[in-house]
Amino acid sequence: MKFFVDTAEIADIKEMADTGLLDGVTTNPSLIAKSGRDFMEVTKEICELVDGPVSAEVVALDHAGMMREAEILRKIADNVCIKVPLTVDGLKTCKALSSEGTMVNVTLCFSANQALLAAKAGASFISPFIGRHDDNGFDGIQLIEDIRLIYDNYAFETEILAASIRHPIHLLQCAKIGADVATMPPSVIKNLFKHVLTEKGIEGFLADWAKTGQSI
Ligand code: E4P
Repeated sequence: MKFFVDTAEIADIKEMADTGLLDGVTTNPSLIAKSGRDFMEVTKEICELVDGPVSAEVVALDHAGMMREAEILRKIADNVCIKVPLTVDGLKTCKALSSEGTMVNVTLCFSANQALLAAKAGASFISPFIGRHDDNGFDGIQLIEDIRLIYDNYAFETEILAASIRHPIHLLQCAKIGADVATMPPSVIKNLFKHVLTEKGIEGFLADWAKTGQSI
């Protein structure tokens, strides 16, 4: 399973990249706004820090506008993945870009039928939003399960990029179902390392080690 970090904060991306566990980055217009950075500049910096796909989202709503923005964004670096919304124009853009060999992440997916359309349009990644689905009274994890089943039925190569992950249990459930990628906020990734018994265990071992009076 690949781990992407869902942020545009350079310090957080560096910290995650240093663990050696980071396979890519996702950003969106809200995360860029939160960072307070220039979109092009920060995307370039992220692409230099991480070898894997870095999603940069278009903001145009029409196909021509999306293509124009994608043209600018894909010049930033070879690992830029163009993020388009799951709309008719978004999928037209996905089809055109993926036919030219550009990576595309289709975002804002809230149904398995939408995911089927994105796969048919040649998306490299489909981003179902688990947390937002749950927030609205739907079952985000069931959505991942349905998409996995459909993609396996037809051997689609589009990777399921579980997004809007809010806590470690979401990740655990996605991993059990077989989502290809999970994009998580830095806080969730940090929590994955933690267990109270690990901390307690270290404490106990160090206390006993001190009694030996030895050093390594
Ligand atoms: C990732 O590509 C999405 O933009 C992100 O996971 C959305 O998460 P949110 O619902 O927490 O904003």
